[in-house]
Amino acid sequence: MAKSKQLQLDDLSAEILADNICPDLASGATQLVFGTGSPDAELVFIGEAPGKKEDETGEPFVGAAGRFLNEMLAMIKLKREDIYITNIVKYRPPDNRDPLPEEKSAFLPYLTKQLAIIKPKLIITLGRHSMDVLLPGLKISQAHGEPKRKNGQVYLPLFHPAAALYNGGLRQTLIDDFAKVPLILEQI
Ligand code: URA
Repeated sequence: MAKSKQLQLDDLSAEILADNICPDLASGATQLVFGTGSPDAELVFIGEAPGKKEDETGEPFVGAAGRFLNEMLAMIKLKREDIYITNIVKYRPPDNRDPLPEEKSAFLPYLTKQLAIIKPKLIITLGRHSMDVLLPGLKISQAHGEPKRKNGQVYLPLFHPAAALYNGGLRQTLIDDFAKVPLILEQI
């Protein structure tokens, strides 16, 4: 019998550990933050890298940015259990610095496999780091809120909720872009 999606995801998470990906990052982090939510989700969100709270709990987006994300999900009548959420880089970078290009490249094959297991209808990138790896060459200031189709997969680049939290203009833009998600899903 074919392995369930959850088992395939568990295997992939174990593979990252066995392959000793980004050992420097791993040694400074508490744990791998692989991803959470429904393996059957139509909607997958991809952030940048775990922060302090995420490193402590092992779950992506559980800090302030995560609470804002939950509010926006509620606005479109979704709960965290309905979606799947992960990051491009799966260990917390020291002092929450930006992930390095080589760290993003090291994790990309695993992110690609993770997405191939889940097979979502729509992939939402949060912020420029995850947009850069999946949709290289775009500018977030221009690309945000506009669905893009690439190799048969639909993507929606959005601003990062952490960037929008304390910037009123960006916050409203992100809320407005988020409100388009149900219609985009319906049209896929
Ligand atoms: N920011 C991210 O990009 N990812 C998290 O998991 C938390 C904050």
